[in-house]
Amino acid sequence: MIPFYIETYGCQMNVSDSQVVAALLADTGYEPCQSLEEARVVLINTCSIRENAEQRVWGRLDVFRQLKRRNPELRVGVLGCMATRLKDELLKHPAVDWVVGPDSYRMLPRLMNPSALIGNELSPVQTKLSMKETYADVMPVHNLSGGVSAFVTIMRGCNNMCAYCVVPYVRGGERSRDPFSIEREVRNLVEDGFGEVTLLGQNVDSYCWQNPETGETTDFARLLERVAGISPGLRVRFTTSHPKDMNDNVLYAMARWSNICRHIHLPVQSGSDAMLQKMNRKYTRASYLQRIARIREILPDCAITSDMIAGFCSETEEDHLLTLSLMREVRYDQAFMFQYSERPNTYAARHYSDDVPADVKTRRLNEIIALQNELSMESNKADIGRVFEVLVEGESRRSADEYFGRTGTAKVCVFPRENCKTGDYVQVQVTSCTPATLLGKIV
Ligand code: 5AD
Ligand code: SF4
Repeated sequence: MIPFYIETYGCQMNVSDSQVVAALLADTGYEPCQSLEEARVVLINTCSIRENAEQRVWGRLDVFRQLKRRNPELRVGVLGCMATRLKDELLKHPAVDWVVGPDSYRMLPRLMNPSALIGNELSPVQTKLSMKETYADVMPVHNLSGGVSAFVTIMRGCNNMCAYCVVPYVRGGERSRDPFSIEREVRNLVEDGFGEVTLLGQNVDSYCWQNPETGETTDFARLLERVAGISPGLRVRFTTSHPKDMNDNVLYAMARWSNICRHIHLPVQSGSDAMLQKMNRKYTRASYLQRIARIREILPDCAITSDMIAGFCSETEEDHLLTLSLMREVRYDQAFMFQYSERPNTYAARHYSDDVPADVKTRRLNEIIALQNELSMESNKADIGRVFEVLVEGESRRSADEYFGRTGTAKVCVFPRENCKTGDYVQVQVTSCTPATLLGKIV
């Protein structure tokens, strides 16, 4: 068996893809190893979403180059979104042997066979995108990073064309995976002792699969219920929801099934209609707030989290203040917050000027972060005294005497370990908090 090592950057989708790659390789004579030093093959699964994500990968490639000097047998493959975006440019780096995009992972075993490149049979750069590939039949190696919570990809690609975003270009068009293979994968996970699954897609609300035999279609709300019905002991999460597509049926499905976690990640990006329109988000501040009102009405204890971008093209101080006021209105429980980073060839790069000065972007981002810290602290304080079901994920970073896990509302919770082990569900009463963490005790 040949030892391989995968390093993963970017989103949960990439974590899931690395597990697909591990499964494809495991079937063809490779086995995962725990350190770079043991590896004969190193794969780096990359992200293009912001420039700094790409910079980090270039830095790692320089490290692999050093490793190769010491170990000339070592082979290095670049996978993921940067592979599609940069293609041959990556192959020019002295560390790189193969460049393989998100829809070409089935080529990897053949490509990695030492005779494959002889006589130019196969190009070392495989980055064609597909409208069909969902890897539905591949059962990913879920324990690659250990754990009790698994990602299950339900769809790939994206059709949204947000002006700032590189994803549709690097991951191709949207396609949904057949629900039978999703259910099969989730059933296997339950048998293997996983306590939680997260259904993944760039825009889960537009999940749509048509049965070629009966013509019947399955939408996301239906899929969610089918997955939740597999086992009452399995917690079900999903991400990412899109404000323009999320409908009440999803909320009713959540209300019907207590094992669907009370958490919706509903990225807003900006609180200003002018920016939302420029970003091509296809909703307004008012319609977004209506969606939030429906969530609060149907699921009163549902946590809501978001993504925000500071300093998109031509963003004024007024636009920025509208983002802050929207955040206050929604009272997000948590958020991921970014400075706008222009990505080559996106609609924004081709049509708008990236004209908010760097120091202004930074200042606005800092204001967004400071406000979110306040809101997160408020949200966590409101949980003090409450009891949550927590899935134990492992030892806390601070101390071996403490465990950590997540509440259904996706908050990290730390508590003295007592009589429990990783993978157990425990009832934890919250006794105090920081903006990022709930602290509590098992009751
Ligand atoms: N610059 C900054 N942030 C971006 N995101 C996507 N593209 C960019 C970009 N060009 C953010 C969005 C998205 C999250 C995954 O990353 O907020 O929701
Ligand atoms: Fe994920 Fe987007 Fe980064 Fe690709 S570019 S890894 S889809 S976050």
